[in-house]
Amino acid sequence: MSEYRIAWMPGDSVGVDVMEAAQIVLDAIKLDAEYIHADIGWEFWCKEGDPLPERTIAILEDCTCGLFGAITSKPTDEAELELAPELKGKGLSYRSPIVRLRQHFDLYTNLRPCKAYPGSPLNYRDDIDLVIFRENTEGLYSGVEYHPLPQEVRETMKKYNPALSRFDAVPGDELAVSLRVITKNGALRIIRQAFEYARQFGYPTVTLVEKPNVLRETSGLMTREARKVARDYPDIELWETNIDAQMMWLLKNPDDYGVLVTSNMFGDILSDLSAQLVGGLGFASSGNIGDKFAVFEPTHGSAPKYAGQYKVNPIAMLLAVKLMLNWLGETDKAQSLEDAIAKVIAEGEVRTYDMGGESTTLEMAHAVVSKL
Ligand code: IPM
Ligand code: MG
Repeated sequence: MSEYRIAWMPGDSVGVDVMEAAQIVLDAIKLDAEYIHADIGWEFWCKEGDPLPERTIAILEDCTCGLFGAITSKPTDEAELELAPELKGKGLSYRSPIVRLRQHFDLYTNLRPCKAYPGSPLNYRDDIDLVIFRENTEGLYSGVEYHPLPQEVRETMKKYNPALSRFDAVPGDELAVSLRVITKNGALRIIRQAFEYARQFGYPTVTLVEKPNVLRETSGLMTREARKVARDYPDIELWETNIDAQMMWLLKNPDDYGVLVTSNMFGDILSDLSAQLVGGLGFASSGNIGDKFAVFEPTHGSAPKYAGQYKVNPIAMLLAVKLMLNWLGETDKAQSLEDAIAKVIAEGEVRTYDMGGESTTLEMAHAVVSKL
């Protein structure tokens, strides 16, 4: 029996390529793990009407954690068009499987480190070391959306904001609503994770990025809870910023910031900007972490135009493996993997196309292995 059971979910397109790179590195590191393949992605939507089949959930329930490559997702109308003929018109609707995994397993922390490794030609600056804590189960991803807008919802909305009567003449099918849902517990636990991390790794500040001047209730709740949590961490300063201004400041003074914590959609946006500061999506890894289970993934999508070409940079995926090793408590292995990645970047001999080189996905994986 191996020590760990890891659900292996390559998903679509380049997800398959980068997961092959992950396997090469995990084998070299000799992690005592069994890897169990699990179906996920566009293929299963088209063939079965579900990109996250029940059998995959069952495998995950039986694993220590999961590793995920990438998936394709498309807007509702396009998704319907690609369904197998016998599945069309049955009212099936596509929902991103990764979002569903996050919610199903209550993986409430989305940990997204963005660190500039010296020597990468893509670094915006070399001294950037940001860690984003994105709430991963609520907010605008609550899945409560209306279109057309039912009359009773419209009436309720008007009770809370009479000015909405200016939409009275707009028919229900010309109105769409998405709800931003924040719970006190949801706010508390992500903020606590951020402070714990700051304390453990010696970051002097935690920045709460919200918009309480406009989103008075949802961002307001986040702000109140953050102030409460901050009292338990007198050694760490709480900074409060607005999402719009924060995007500017990250470009202006990225090295002023360390740990940032925010709600789901703001974290989605903030983490792509932060990723770009340290080389783009080829460098951005992410951990979806709950109390007992976690799924690790590169932040990038499936890049269908590069499918099967072994062209994309696997560093994001390898950094996701590093996050997984840390979560498993394999801290020595995690450190040596990160050191190896840093050496390859610093030497600059092996570079994928995004870094201005011609190396392949697997050449990069082998280069990392050679530095372990
Ligand atoms: C991410 C991605 C996902 C998200 C998509 C693929 C649903 O952008 O992990 O940041 O919006 O969370
Ligand atoms: Mg995103």
